[in-house]
Amino acid sequence: MTKDAYTLAREAAAALRAATGLDSFDVALVMGSGWVPAADAIGSAVSETPFTGLPGFQAPAVAGHGGRIRVVRTAAGRHALVFLGRTHLYEGLGVDAVVHGVRTAAAAGARTIVLTNAAGGLRPETQSVGDPVLISDHINLTGANPITGTTFLDLTEVYSGRLRALAREIDPTLAEGIYVAFRGPTYETPAEIRMLRTLGGDLIGMSTVLEAVAAREAGLDVLGLSLVTNPGAGLSGEPLDHEEVLEVGRATAARMGVLLAKLVDRL
Ligand code: HPA
Repeated sequence: MTKDAYTLAREAAAALRAATGLDSFDVALVMGSGWVPAADAIGSAVSETPFTGLPGFQAPAVAGHGGRIRVVRTAAGRHALVFLGRTHLYEGLGVDAVVHGVRTAAAAGARTIVLTNAAGGLRPETQSVGDPVLISDHINLTGANPITGTTFLDLTEVYSGRLRALAREIDPTLAEGIYVAFRGPTYETPAEIRMLRTLGGDLIGMSTVLEAVAAREAGLDVLGLSLVTNPGAGLSGEPLDHEEVLEVGRATAARMGVLLAKLVDRL
């Protein structure tokens, strides 16, 4: 029998402990494309390990998605695992690879995880490019699920209401929205974007939902944050471009960094 995904995550957590000399970590953050430039603000780096140096991790396929785990000491002395980059379902490596970081964070002792992403905005009437949005719930249209078998996990509150309230205390201007995930890697068609608006979605992206489910399975509290990097396809008349997504991240790094730094010590 091949080694199961949960065992592999425990091995990765043990390797992280050995690499850092730390026994446990308080919180984990997954930095999506557009969020990596904000990572420096979270705290001072204790160590940095490339994904390729840890069991079960894959080198990321996408430019701008990093591919390292940084251990950070926050202003209040907490230890955060900061994932600079993630594996996406569209890379074709399977669901377990997509959620391996989350399972590793849980095995390493984290009780809370912050999942960030870049997203297309489905509500340009009220959203602006460069806005951070708290994810209040999701619609998983990837066709995948990280759980196999008869674990009928309750998903009534995937994104912790308590953590969202805390985030709004830090930044009262934060809006909330429902994040829809497609598998990608293509961006959506304008007809799909119109469908998602009708379905009640506010944000569209290609990540986060599988990680959030795996995090809930592991008992982690989840906070989700999208950075609106563009209006959804067909809503602005402009074609979509990955480079533009990264540029919005660079332009908003200071604001997102302050938000994350304040959050990690209050979660
Ligand atoms: N669609 C899907 N994923 C995205 C988008 C989008 O418009 N923008 C950033 N990530």
